[in-house]
Amino acid sequence: AGGKRAGEEELRRLYRKVETVDERAAAGMTDRVASCGSLYDSTNLLLQYCNNDDTVSASSNLDMEDRVSQLEQRLQLQEDEIQLLKAALADALRRLGCCEDQGPGAAAQLLQALPSRPLSNGYVQQKRLLSSPSSPKKDVLQSMKRKSMSTERLTLVKREMGGGEARSRTTSSSKDGYVRMFLRGRPVTMHIPDAQRDSYTLDHKGAAPDRKLKLQWVYGYRGRDCRSNLYLLPTGEIVYFNASVVVLLNTEEQQQRHYMGHDDDVKCLSVHPDMVTIATGQVAGNSKDGKVLHPHVRVWDSVSLNTLHVLGMGVFDRAVTCVAFSKSNGGAHLCAVDDANDHILSVWNWQKEKQLAEVKCSNDSVLGAVFHPMDPNLIVTCGKSHINFWTMEGNTLTKKQGLFEKHEKPKYVLCVAFAENGDAITGDSSGNIYVWAKGGSRISQAVAGAHEGGVFSLLVLKDGTMVSGGGKDRRVVLWDHDYTKQSEMEVGEPLGPVRALSEGKPGELFVGTTKNAIIRAAFPDTLTPIVQGHTDELWGLDVHPSMEQFITCAQDKLVQLWDTNSHQPLWSKAIDDQGRSAGFHPSGGVVAVGTMSGRWLVLDTDTRDLVSMHTDGNEIISNIKYSPDGNYLAVGSHDNFVYIYAVTENGRKYSRAGKCSGHSSFVTHLDWSQDSHYLVTNSGDYEILFWEAPSGKHVTSMDAMRNMEWATYTCTLGFNAFGVWPDGADGTDVNAVCKSHSSSLLASADDFGKVHLFTFPCSQPRAPSHKYGGHSSHVTNIAFLHDDSHLISTGGKDTSIMQWAVV
Ligand SMILES: *[C@@H]1O[C@H](CO)[C@@H](O)[C@H](O)[C@H]1NC(C)=O
Ligand SMILES: *[C@@H]1O[C@H](CO)[C@@H](O)[C@H](O)[C@H]1NC(C)=O
Repeated sequence: AGGKRAGEEELRRLYRKVETVDERAAAGMTDRVASCGSLYDSTNLLLQYCNNDDTVSASSNLDMEDRVSQLEQRLQLQEDEIQLLKAALADALRRLGCCEDQGPGAAAQLLQALPSRPLSNGYVQQKRLLSSPSSPKKDVLQSMKRKSMSTERLTLVKREMGGGEARSRTTSSSKDGYVRMFLRGRPVTMHIPDAQRDSYTLDHKGAAPDRKLKLQWVYGYRGRDCRSNLYLLPTGEIVYFNASVVVLLNTEEQQQRHYMGHDDDVKCLSVHPDMVTIATGQVAGNSKDGKVLHPHVRVWDSVSLNTLHVLGMGVFDRAVTCVAFSKSNGGAHLCAVDDANDHILSVWNWQKEKQLAEVKCSNDSVLGAVFHPMDPNLIVTCGKSHINFWTMEGNTLTKKQGLFEKHEKPKYVLCVAFAENGDAITGDSSGNIYVWAKGGSRISQAVAGAHEGGVFSLLVLKDGTMVSGGGKDRRVVLWDHDYTKQSEMEVGEPLGPVRALSEGKPGELFVGTTKNAIIRAAFPDTLTPIVQGHTDELWGLDVHPSMEQFITCAQDKLVQLWDTNSHQPLWSKAIDDQGRSAGFHPSGGVVAVGTMSGRWLVLDTDTRDLVSMHTDGNEIISNIKYSPDGNYLAVGSHDNFVYIYAVTENGRKYSRAGKCSGHSSFVTHLDWSQDSHYLVTNSGDYEILFWEAPSGKHVTSMDAMRNMEWATYTCTLGFNAFGVWPDGADGTDVNAVCKSHSSSLLASADDFGKVHLFTFPCSQPRAPSHKYGGHSSHVTNIAFLHDDSHLISTGGKDTSIMQWAVV
């Protein structure tokens, strides 16, 4: 019933929206526009259609989900229509504006063309698919709306020869060729350059490029919500994971290798006692075509990177969040915990891929599961208000609960380690360290208040001393054999609380933090960060015009300038707003940063000092780009406008020069022409518009625009890029495209965690590409380095930056 109410609420909201559209129509368009009757007819039809809805929910005995999904479909239908109405209105207003400039004759001509524009295309009858994949960045309900329209309906009009169906579908400059693609029922018209007009055909099959991508560097570590996930291997590499990639980093040689066997987020990792074999567990995911990607464990060889075994495909339910090899029986067994309601603990003979035992572990979350180092039949699990000691006999696991007795019972037992003598040692959310004598379930020794706040990690070193890591206090503390404090140091606030500890070379530690940094540490006070990154949704990216550097900005309010050779941030700057977009001045001397609040700033690339700050509207600045000559800056906003600024003093002074007004939805992408005189923009309702710079005057004639050389190709909609759109694409499937500087490649970033590499131009439907996984959520942005040697991609939810060599 709640769903239904919400649905009805949503419908009411939509009625209101439609009414607003109506009002806008009435207010914005004078009687001259009344002749454009189909607009109004269609609105009325829509209202009738909405009103009939009641019958569905009242009489049907469909179950709730079906009804919700029906409502969702209808809502989507209406959203689509409203989108179209808004676009049609915006278009009408633009044309009227243009007529006013050109005099009454032109107006009459243009008005004739109006009713035939987007409304007559039968978009309402489009087939809708219910069972469609969910995108990682969208919720379940929204996922039902996907695939509503297809790109299959491609129309090619080479030349209007007069008369016929084609004429009624064409726009005002009707003499020439275009390709029309449909996204969510919205026609997207893309004009063919004159040079290609005669030879172009939709049937031509392009080829995937000769060049390929090879993942070279992952800037990131998952410390925020995963534990026990950082180890040093005998090869000198540290192993950890980010998104769906397991990273082997040789810090001395500044080299990474990658295990790429997973197809969604990795959540846990264990190193076999042989120090070569590694097990990693992943979450359930969704593939692009709606298939479930099952959670499972992969056992692989860290030298060859070959997968040895895959465990639990179809057995695990939600996510494998703990995995551990046994120690004393040659590492023959492996235990794993599934993060489903029952938190099933299972034990496997991993070499035979055979499950030996399973048991409900706890109703509450389980944070750790490890084998006892001396007893292969003893497993310790810990988590919310529990520590359990499990004994395996045959295929049964018997539980003994740990008893806190007179000691403070913590909300969470956060970590377990084992002393040399076999005692278990736990750290908990109250800051206590408890020692559980071997074989028992009772506390034999307590170190109360070892940390202020939680004890997030414990590590027993080879010499038998112990290190603990604190959450709130961010301290790393060294304890001697009888648990007296020897030494301590504090990780700085920007790097964050301690998440994981690992022993390095003698005297050296690796510290992972919950802010996703990895630090090389040594007592008494050496703390050197070796991995850093963003900690919140990441979209802003641009490459330096002439150096091996790129800039990123994210919703964590950090702007970071990266060096692609050292893989370290050259600087990191905290700003007041969440960052969203970035653009280098062609001189490289300054960089502009767009935020989520309408504010944009300019920073000095060397000193990271603030050079200038402005505000345009109060919505997301999705794009910020300097003209190739460096004299202008275009600021594209979710308030539907592009603001153009004149730039002087080498990027230090800004004054408003124009404003592009005419989009009926948020600006998603923009590019400058090579000569710095024009802009092309894409919007949330799939429009492609052209503008004069710096005036911001809307350009309607395609004669020049179709042949324009653009300095960059980041617009996802356009004749040279539309081939990146997959079959049955929802208009949000492609988040970004980017042309290489050599103009031979086009890369795209999709909503399913994939980076694609196409041949440029990419103007054949469903163009062939090479496809690369690694990100585990929507890829938000991509850019080729100035010399095309590398491609950089950014992940939205996974917040990771990946650097791909172009080979
Ligand atoms: C990947 O790394 C980034 C940067 O360190 C981090 O913020 C993010 O949480 C990690 N994401 C995943 C899914 O591993
Ligand atoms: C989990 O909860 C159920 C129902 O509340 C209870 O019967 C069961 O004993 C609990 N199991 C564990 C392992 O605590």
